[in-house]
Amino acid sequence: MAKEYKRLTELSKSSGWAAKIGPETLAQVLCHLPTSDQDENLIVGIETSDDAAVYKINEDTALIQTVDFFTPVVDDPFVYGQIAATNSLSDVYAMGGDPKLAMNIIGFPNCLPPEVMAEILKGGYSKVKEAGAITVGGHTVEDDEPKYGLCASGFIHPDAVIKNSTAKVGDILVITKPIGLGIVNTAIKAQMASEEMYNAGVKAMVTLNKFAKDAMVKAEANACTDVTGFGLLGHSLEVAEGSNVTIKLNSGDIPIVKGVEEFANMGLIPAGTYENKKFIGDKVIFDKDIKEQMKDILYDPQTSGGLLISVRPDMLDLLMNELEGNVTEYAIIGEVIEKGEHPIIVN
Ligand code: CO
Ligand code: CO
Ligand code: CO
Repeated sequence: MAKEYKRLTELSKSSGWAAKIGPETLAQVLCHLPTSDQDENLIVGIETSDDAAVYKINEDTALIQTVDFFTPVVDDPFVYGQIAATNSLSDVYAMGGDPKLAMNIIGFPNCLPPEVMAEILKGGYSKVKEAGAITVGGHTVEDDEPKYGLCASGFIHPDAVIKNSTAKVGDILVITKPIGLGIVNTAIKAQMASEEMYNAGVKAMVTLNKFAKDAMVKAEANACTDVTGFGLLGHSLEVAEGSNVTIKLNSGDIPIVKGVEEFANMGLIPAGTYENKKFIGDKVIFDKDIKEQMKDILYDPQTSGGLLISVRPDMLDLLMNELEGNVTEYAIIGEVIEKGEHPIIVN
């Protein structure tokens, strides 16, 4: 493809999940809206900031529904499509379900040739297909900043839904992808990412959370969320507050994309990090030995991040065995303890 047009990431003001409206602004808007309309069949609504809505259709079937889209995080349109679709499908997996239907949402500038849109859609289609779901249409608007994602639906047994608000004291926490992906995206946009960092970041972002989901279902996980725009700390906070517990994370055990720490040292971090930091505020307490750069990585908005799984200690071995063969790094990173003064403790 001839390259006389702008790079995709040049056309986006901020990269990927960093383009998400900050949690504080979002909270200010949402507080003016009614909570989910009352309906006895709504199993998961907006109250617990969970990954997707879940609606019971009958005794055996519930519908999982979610939508996500963002600006380019890489310059290759096919890979961008793959990442955006993987991220959108992830919210279905985070509820314990499998996606079935997907619709494309596209914002596309007229300064780019139509082949670029075709490549983005092909990338998205490849991931929907890999997920065992089908693409059933979509909607396109003209937009100066390219945007792409999916509205995805899946089905699950109503009793099998894995919420983000049901972690239990004593649970062990496992993450299924490395973090630092927002910093990787920032480095890619600035054309500063090494090939090694680019490859590691892209590998994580295009990996479906399907394998991890299957593992957590076998291990009867108590709770789960995917780690995306609000960073590891922001999503841990949702789990802690929703479950009425405190989450203790061991920073030394958290997998981080190689090279990310150096960029954090240089201060090359997305704007969304500061918004997450401001929003979480004093709800997290850090051990005094934790460096500022490490904190920035923990607040870093993730693009197409992994699952954060809360599992009973007696099921941990089973979960870790099932995760063997997961193509991205995974690790035990903390535990769930009795609710204390702070919802999150980082050691
Ligand atoms: Co989510
Ligand atoms: Co989402
Ligand atoms: Co969930």
